[in-house]
Amino acid sequence: MSNSRVSIHGYWSSRLMFILAAAGSAVGLGNVWKFPYMAGDSGGGAFVLVYLVCIALLGLPVMVSEVLLGRRGRSSPVNTMRALAEEENRSTSWSLVGFMGMLAGFMILSYYSVIAGWTLAYVLEAAQGSFTGLTGEKSGEVFSRLVSNPWRLLFWHTVFIVLTMAVVARGVRKGLENAVRFLMPALFVLILVMVVYALVHGDFLAGLKFLFNPDFSRITPEVALKALGHAFFTLSLGMGAIMMYGSYLPRNASIGSTSVQVALADTGIAILAGLAIFPIVFANNLESGQGPGLIFNTLPLAFGNMPGGMFFGLLFFTLLFFAAWTSAISLIEPAVAWLVERFSISRVSSALACGLVTWTVGLGTVFSFNHWTRIGWLDGTPFEGKSFFDLLDHLAVNIMLPLGGILICLFAGWVMSENSSRDELGMKHPFVYGLWRMLARYVAPAGMILVFLHVLGVF
Ligand code: TRP
Repeated sequence: MSNSRVSIHGYWSSRLMFILAAAGSAVGLGNVWKFPYMAGDSGGGAFVLVYLVCIALLGLPVMVSEVLLGRRGRSSPVNTMRALAEEENRSTSWSLVGFMGMLAGFMILSYYSVIAGWTLAYVLEAAQGSFTGLTGEKSGEVFSRLVSNPWRLLFWHTVFIVLTMAVVARGVRKGLENAVRFLMPALFVLILVMVVYALVHGDFLAGLKFLFNPDFSRITPEVALKALGHAFFTLSLGMGAIMMYGSYLPRNASIGSTSVQVALADTGIAILAGLAIFPIVFANNLESGQGPGLIFNTLPLAFGNMPGGMFFGLLFFTLLFFAAWTSAISLIEPAVAWLVERFSISRVSSALACGLVTWTVGLGTVFSFNHWTRIGWLDGTPFEGKSFFDLLDHLAVNIMLPLGGILICLFAGWVMSENSSRDELGMKHPFVYGLWRMLARYVAPAGMILVFLHVLGVF
């Protein structure tokens, strides 16, 4: 039973464009900014190991499920879930998955934009030569000068939101495709350059050991939850972003191999980023567990002391900004598309409305790094000492994304008929289809539920 739904928002011009767009969404601050500092905070190898397992056993089946649902539903996640549930004669409450996803998208983008603003500020720092001859201490000063000034953060946050909404307003082809075609490959090459620098000038062995020599005693429930959440975050899963992109995918493209390629590219870039950063951290006796400032405190050291460092520094933060840009777009695309479908407004008005909301929520993160580093009324709760940014990140990434992921998997594996999923996936090997179905029905939901129960202290 094939389906004949159509996307009112347009289509990718080719399968390759989908891969680039999905990889553009996946590769972003999550790989270069977040992965290294989370690994650093959680003791390195232990975190990396759980993260890799989560990518393979949970992330991949969820990704295939999202693309599958998206391509079959051909609309925003809310309406895709509703249409597919109706097709199987199930409750239309499944559309709540789409609503939760949109909410998570707003929450994540609101702080993502502030951090992306840091990369823009660093482009300027690099251009002004602030990195030249930098020492560890001075590097910390450049960073704290930035984050302690809410006006600077607000300015760059505003610039980033405007740029993101400008692309989204232009729509699938004109907006999204042009942004990803050249920038992704360029970022990849530049990260390789950084790894080579770290190999030559950093303590490469210490970096390798830190990332790949797991200390199993450090796999605590919190580390497991963070690794799970991050696996979803880095692959852009659990909130419908990839589902939305799947709805623009032409029918003849293979969903399975596309997903594997995207996941490999994403994981590869994260590992390379780790290999570029930790050797420098250890060679300069910097603190590996210093949190969100990690790459902003370490990479400028490398740029400040390498030949042509000003150029490379400028290029690096520019490309990182582009990587963040192509990711940010996908965080808000489901909400923008839904508003267009639901209220028949133009893409431009819809993008404007979404941008305004996100910008406003982002103010909470702007102040999280200066005036408002902890929320007072959380004292006495398990979240004591957390900032608004910490709380948003925790709720959206560690709770909402995996929850969305479980529901998406359960829907694709149990609610959708075997005929529909087999038809839509069109996998050549029955074994591959069987493998996906088993992972989506049992392994992925069970894995996520286990992590949740573990965190709740059930065992
Ligand atoms: N994956 C992106 C990154 O690693 C962030 C991102 C984009 C995202 N779209 C998403 C995260 C959807 C969760 C859900 O930077």
